[in-house]
Amino acid sequence: SGAPRPRVTFLGTGYLGATYAICYAELGYEVLGYDVDVDKIAKLNAGEVPIHEPGLDELLKRNLAAGRLRFSTDIAETAAFGDVHFICVGTPQRADGLGADLTYVEASVTSLAQHLTRKALIVGKSTVPVGTAEWVEQLVGKHSSPDLGIEVAWSPEFLQEGFAVDDVLRPNRIVVGVKSEWANGMLYAAHKGVFDLAATEDREVPLVVTDFATAELVKVAANAFLATKISFINAMAEVCEASGGDVTQLARAIGYDPRIGNRFLQAGLGFGGACLPKDIRAFQARAQELGAGEALRFLHEVDLINLRRRSRVLQLAADLLGRRYGPAGPDLTGTRIAVLGATFKPNTDDVRDAPALAVAALLGKAGADVRVYDPQGMENARRAMPELSYEPSMNEAVTGADLVCVLTEWADFRNADPVALGELVAERRVVDGRNCLDSALWVQAGWQYRGMGRP
Ligand code: UGA
Repeated sequence: SGAPRPRVTFLGTGYLGATYAICYAELGYEVLGYDVDVDKIAKLNAGEVPIHEPGLDELLKRNLAAGRLRFSTDIAETAAFGDVHFICVGTPQRADGLGADLTYVEASVTSLAQHLTRKALIVGKSTVPVGTAEWVEQLVGKHSSPDLGIEVAWSPEFLQEGFAVDDVLRPNRIVVGVKSEWANGMLYAAHKGVFDLAATEDREVPLVVTDFATAELVKVAANAFLATKISFINAMAEVCEASGGDVTQLARAIGYDPRIGNRFLQAGLGFGGACLPKDIRAFQARAQELGAGEALRFLHEVDLINLRRRSRVLQLAADLLGRRYGPAGPDLTGTRIAVLGATFKPNTDDVRDAPALAVAALLGKAGADVRVYDPQGMENARRAMPELSYEPSMNEAVTGADLVCVLTEWADFRNADPVALGELVAERRVVDGRNCLDSALWVQAGWQYRGMGRP
């Protein structure tokens, strides 16, 4: 377009920051990614993506080569480089409770502010409790010279693992919380690449310009809604289990109503990952602090419904294995169980708060000899749960198994041949924790099949 574009930095090169930095270079911006982690920065500069995300590898290499992108552990260099600085550091669940830990936000904003020598805009992207932007503004005021006139804004992101590149390049909306026309203009310029790309593809990206609090809330509200939608259909699964209904048909039928929509109505093992579980907890904790706890009490139920799905798999396993389900759970001693899937969803190597891995651990605790296989998540799973046994392939995991549990809906598992697998197992019993298998095909191949919320 020829209009001048601000130089942008991304502080924190985890999932969010690395993806944004790389994609923004692809959009034509001059980009610097910053992190305190020396290893991560060295890897990125060498063209190595630290996460598994389709398409990101190629974009990293191309943009490093084009000279639009580099990574640094030097905060002074970062401060000098950028006109707009995006804060993309993690906000994990606090060790002492359900709220968000803002240590990394505080550390990155403070050191950036201390090193700035000209006017710049600091934009928060991390998922935070409402009120954080105001606090960041105060931090910046305290740690930077007032004559520089450093400003703050908030712009949440909505990227999904596995689709992160497209979600950054082609977002379904951009939300900005700003206090001044200058900040609004700067942020517009910092998003112009996205608008320009949309124009060339004959699309439009809606822009919502709002205040700090609303911008912060949009993010957690969206994730709370998604979590609620999943728990809603899992609650229906529980009722189906009690009444003999089939939740997959129920979901299809209600999903035809466009007011409901058919997406995110997949009943099964429930939601995991680094976002939805921690976000609904942090949101409740913050609402409580604000005196609005009652408004979000339902999110506690959303969490409980979600966690109950894990025991349901245990129940189905015990049932298929002919073991009694006592008050302390089932005794599965002497059984061998293949767990297919460890990541929190397919097409990622992320096992953070993964329901599949949690169930594998529960089965192991119940005394079963558990063998886990996942197409991409093995390395992370081993690190997160070294006490479990891992097999290098699906076939090896199921060999000799008394029960197979499919807990992440990878295409490899969905497309697996039940006849061939049937030859390898000791007993043809399968729990389909994600309702992702063609049950008729498995039953035809002689398997005892149990899905979630299905007769
Ligand atoms: C989620 C949101 O979808 C993103 O919009 C948001 O930006 C992101 O969190 C974030 O806050 O950073 P993500 O964690 O990548 O993205 O995963 P999702 O695709 O939302 O899936 C979350 C979990 O829900 C997975 O465990 C998945 O298996 C489960 N799920 C999803 C279901 O059980 N049923 C469904 O119908 C859909």
